[in-house]
Amino acid sequence: METYFGTIKELLEQLKSYLGSNKTILVLDENTDCYLKDFQDAFGGDFTFLKLKSGEENKNLNSISKIWDFLNTNNINRNDTLLILGGGMVGDIASFAAATYKRGIDFILFPTTLLSMVDSSIGGKTGFNFNHLKNNIGTFNTPKAVFYSSEFLKTLPENEIYSGLAEVYKHSIIEDKETWNYLKNTASGFNYEYLTKSSFLLKSKIVAEDPLEKSSRKKLNFGHTVGHAIESYLLTKKTPVLHGIAIAKGIIIESYIAYKQKLLSEKDFKTIETEINIKFKKFFNFKIKLIDVLNLMKFDKKNTSNTINFSLPTTIGNVIVNQEISQEKVADYLKRYFSND
Ligand SMILES: NC(=O)c1ccc[n+]([C@@H]2O[C@H](COP(=O)([O-])OP(=O)(O)OC[C@H]3O[C@@H](n4cnc5c(N)ncnc54)[C@H](O)[C@@H]3O)[C@@H](O)[C@H]2O)c1
Repeated sequence: METYFGTIKELLEQLKSYLGSNKTILVLDENTDCYLKDFQDAFGGDFTFLKLKSGEENKNLNSISKIWDFLNTNNINRNDTLLILGGGMVGDIASFAAATYKRGIDFILFPTTLLSMVDSSIGGKTGFNFNHLKNNIGTFNTPKAVFYSSEFLKTLPENEIYSGLAEVYKHSIIEDKETWNYLKNTASGFNYEYLTKSSFLLKSKIVAEDPLEKSSRKKLNFGHTVGHAIESYLLTKKTPVLHGIAIAKGIIIESYIAYKQKLLSEKDFKTIETEINIKFKKFFNFKIKLIDVLNLMKFDKKNTSNTINFSLPTTIGNVIVNQEISQEKVADYLKRYFSND
């Protein structure tokens, strides 16, 4: 897989020579159509696109069918390349559609959210939600190339930026103290190209070591055991929270669990808790009962009947996997963050 970084204009120039005489076909998210003109200007009339509705509720088979129809209608064949312009939602479904259409055609990603730049565009996971189960159907397929431009972030709402930033914090705690220090010392006005490149290097290294998530790739689940429970609970209550905001809370709570398990020093735990609260507290405006979080964690497919499996930090810059902790202990630790009133 190749990667390019630059302004939107530079990337499109690069893309033109990359595609050669092949058809230009694009799938985009409705909120990224302000960038359509850049593509139209670069490719003139020889350009076909499909605009998809945004939102996680559209990450479904119906949207995938629309993409397959669009590819068939335009007689797309195995020599053509599908361009995908959007965040993780459109990225995941259009990659899946491309990976399965005529047994697979090439696709190129233009990630437009910070989360898709630092996370979903790396690692080759494609898929969609099925029967209310998140990412229930999917494949592992790597894009032919990813074109990154932080210019796309100029139109992204602040809470979406922070949702992506949580994954950068996660990466920095897993294995990148330098980026941690940069984040801690930067109040606002982040250098997104630097953050995308550092996340890209880290995640692609971990994915290359363990592409199918049998062992070390599980490090990337740090913050997600608790974070997913928070996200799922709020979704069922129809008061959804952005993925990364739930993960930011998960990072704090799982760092506390690591401290209680004597894996992480109290000093490092407090440093993580303070830093994440400084940056994310304004988004933590949800209240969840202990019993609800615990119930969701018990049903997570990664867990056995008596224990919950975590990936936990031992210091800022190292995370270890497969930490099985009894449900009783987890319930006790979580009392610091959730009550039953
Ligand atoms: N494949 C993977 O490895 C992986 C990893 C993490 C997350 N994901 C998936 O990614 C999805 C979340 O991704 P996301 O956070 O990018 O959400 P998203 O794609 O839903 O985008 C968030 C919102 O921002 C809008 N948007 C996108 N780009 C914009 C721009 N430049 N300007 C203005 N608005 C813009 C979208 O329309 C949407 O409303 C989830 O479906 C999740 O399952 C996949």
